[in-house]
Amino acid sequence: MEYRKFGDTDLVVSEICFGPMRFAARAQGEDEVSRRGKRALERAIERGVDFIHSSYEYGTRWAMGDVLEKHPRRHDLHHIIKVPIPDFKDGDRFDAEKFRLRVEEALRELHTDCIDVVQHLLRSDPNTDERRIPNISEVDGPLREIFETLKAEGKVKYLTTFPYTVGFARSSLETGAFSGMAAYYNLIEMKMAEFFPRMQERDQGFFCIRPLMAGLLTDRRSDRGSLPDGDRFQDSQWDERYQHLEELKSLFPEQTDSLTAFAVRFVLCHPVVTSLIVGMNSEEQVDGVIDAADGDYPDLSVFEKAWELWKNRKTIDP
Ligand SMILES: NC(=O)c1ccc[n+]([C@@H]2O[C@H](COP(=O)([O-])OP(=O)(O)OC[C@H]3O[C@@H](n4cnc5c(N)ncnc54)[C@H](OP(=O)(O)O)[C@@H]3O)[C@@H](O)[C@H]2O)c1
Repeated sequence: MEYRKFGDTDLVVSEICFGPMRFAARAQGEDEVSRRGKRALERAIERGVDFIHSSYEYGTRWAMGDVLEKHPRRHDLHHIIKVPIPDFKDGDRFDAEKFRLRVEEALRELHTDCIDVVQHLLRSDPNTDERRIPNISEVDGPLREIFETLKAEGKVKYLTTFPYTVGFARSSLETGAFSGMAAYYNLIEMKMAEFFPRMQERDQGFFCIRPLMAGLLTDRRSDRGSLPDGDRFQDSQWDERYQHLEELKSLFPEQTDSLTAFAVRFVLCHPVVTSLIVGMNSEEQVDGVIDAADGDYPDLSVFEKAWELWKNRKTIDP
């Protein structure tokens, strides 16, 4: 396992971060999915993963807790959690007590003393830029205040923004409150790559969420005609992404021999990327991802080619 420093901070984490969104059932129990998922988390830690993402929204922290509570490496692990405040139904109001509650519940459920990275989301209803961007300056002061208080208590370390949109990212990165960004980024979703040069200049770091495009960018699903029965990618909402994948295959005929491995290596080729937050639901998936993250990544010309292709595709991810 290779490790990277997060921007200008002193946080160093594994290039692979465990994403638990689908790794266990939402209801606590002894079902097979959760058993397999718990073995996946154990395997990831055994192979050197020391960075773990989570959210109370996934309902899977109970299974994480089962693995982490008595784990001998529990104190060597770093955590990144989602904190959406204001949330959709909060009427655009920032509530510092709720922020504290989200952090403290995570500390308890993850059996840790500190959350290394808080991934802040500013939501509204409807969740549009028209509503959210003007709220950035309102939220900025109280957000920093509660964050600094929790930091002084030793409960948190660094703050990142999860912007949803390019417009929001532009404004939120300007506030100076964030050490970096956490956002979707993969061969098909490249909109946040626009910020990479200036984030590098400012020594900010980037956490890449869903590097496999939720499972589309994998060998199992690269050929849409042979998707397993009932697979979620049969839905028409994925049509344009599959079209883009065909173009990527033509652009990179050699690299796409193993699409899973290429997707992992591709996102790691950019130096602004600190770690990939990737969903791994079995020991085999953990091994597949970690074997691909072997330190031998494409050069930046591959990034540039994919970026050019993405910029010319106006229909995806505007
Ligand atoms: N707003 C947010 O902050 C936000 C939103 C979404 C996700 N997240 C975080 O990001 C994490 C990752 O998101 P994601 O799971 O949607 O996307 P992802 O990491 O791009 O894709 C993960 C999926 O790829 C498949 N996979 C994983 N390893 C594989 C391997 N070695 N070989 C073949 N297939 C493999 C699995 O799907 P199958 O098992 O179905 O094959 C897995 O569920 C989540 O767990 C969550 O922690 C955050």
